[in-house]
Amino acid sequence: MASYRTAYNIADLREIARRRLPRGVFEFIDRGTEDEVSLRHNFEALKAIRLRPRTLVNVSKRTQEVELLGKRHSMPIAIAPTGSAGLTWYEGEIALARAAAAAGIPFTLATGSMTAMEKVADAAGGTLWFQLYMWPDRALSHKLVDRARAAGFEGLVVTVDSPVPPSREYNLHNGFTLPFSITRRNAADMLSHPRWLLTVLSRYLVTTGMPRYQNYPTEMKQKITALPMGRSMALNDSLTWDDFRELRRRWAHKLLAKGVLTAPDAKRAADCGADAVIVSNHGGRVVDGTRAPIDILPEVVDVLGTRAEVIVDSGFRRGTDVVKALALGARAVLIGRPTLYGTAAGGEAGAARAITLLNQEIDRAMALLGCRTVADLSREHLVYSE
Ligand SMILES: Cc1cc2nc3c(=O)[nH]c(=O)nc-3n(C[C@H](O)[C@H](O)[C@H](O)COP(=O)(O)O)c2cc1C
Repeated sequence: MASYRTAYNIADLREIARRRLPRGVFEFIDRGTEDEVSLRHNFEALKAIRLRPRTLVNVSKRTQEVELLGKRHSMPIAIAPTGSAGLTWYEGEIALARAAAAAGIPFTLATGSMTAMEKVADAAGGTLWFQLYMWPDRALSHKLVDRARAAGFEGLVVTVDSPVPPSREYNLHNGFTLPFSITRRNAADMLSHPRWLLTVLSRYLVTTGMPRYQNYPTEMKQKITALPMGRSMALNDSLTWDDFRELRRRWAHKLLAKGVLTAPDAKRAADCGADAVIVSNHGGRVVDGTRAPIDILPEVVDVLGTRAEVIVDSGFRRGTDVVKALALGARAVLIGRPTLYGTAAGGEAGAARAITLLNQEIDRAMALLGCRTVADLSREHLVYSE
């Protein structure tokens, strides 16, 4: 199986990505943090929920349409921010954003993307959200937010779960750094993936140079040196809900808080003006040993009611995973790694393949549960306990 065309599920796309990417890049995308307890538990918790299909329901006219933050979208999923899509494919963020726009779902561009936000917005269109990591210099972050608005981004996704960088020891073993650099440790790894060298890295080298954070202002670019992954992110460990309120004052459009893992914090986010809360443990990449977002979801849905929309992510690989979250009251699910595997496997067409596979699986799962619309899904369709 060498092509995304013959990938029949997300696991197939992951396998293609594993072969095409240098180990350092693949593991950066695929793995979690520390002992990867959160990463594994995300999958286990989703699988532990049982489905209760209803039979002999007329499901002949099915639709996955949902209203998300005031706009109709064709599916109950959106693309999660991932700072490295541009390492899986040359300008991978554009490939992924175009696939999302064609499928009628939102795309979130990460602060740490390798393609400039203006370029992505011009090339893709569709519903665009911008993910914000606040830097210690708040004024620079506020300027970045203004830039995102000027570029046409409609939603601001503020990531609230990363006051310090996580510990991902495999990046150190692999000699993988961001900003990306060629080191003695990773040279052999890259040389053994000539297709990636030729179609991804070389294309950057002859255009914009070594892949780097293209959204960073010049002041910050100068400060960045190749440190072990994470330390160069210039994260802000003094951030509080006051900063979130300040963003609410400055941003007149949709505001989302990403990385909430408790009902009290979800309530706090809504109190501070969030339009949506994203229940997420960053795909098991930040705190090792958290509860799985799918298990926290019902508490957050119950505490927020209609005050803010609830979105969830972390570990969703199948249509049945997605319908479980919808049945528990999520408005939509963010998809992180699955569409990165697709992008690595075939650029825009590979990302589109990942979305199509999820679309088909969600459609089938809804039909088999006896649901014609997303609104038909309810907790009655599940048996769950933590
Ligand atoms: C390679 C990679 C890079 C990521 N970069 C960011 C980021 O820059 N900002 C952020 O808020 N989340 C980031 N995330 C987390 C995703 O937005 C999302 O929460 C997570 O991938 C969802 O889990 P899933 O991959 O199992 O779908 C990243 C995830 C991956 C896999």
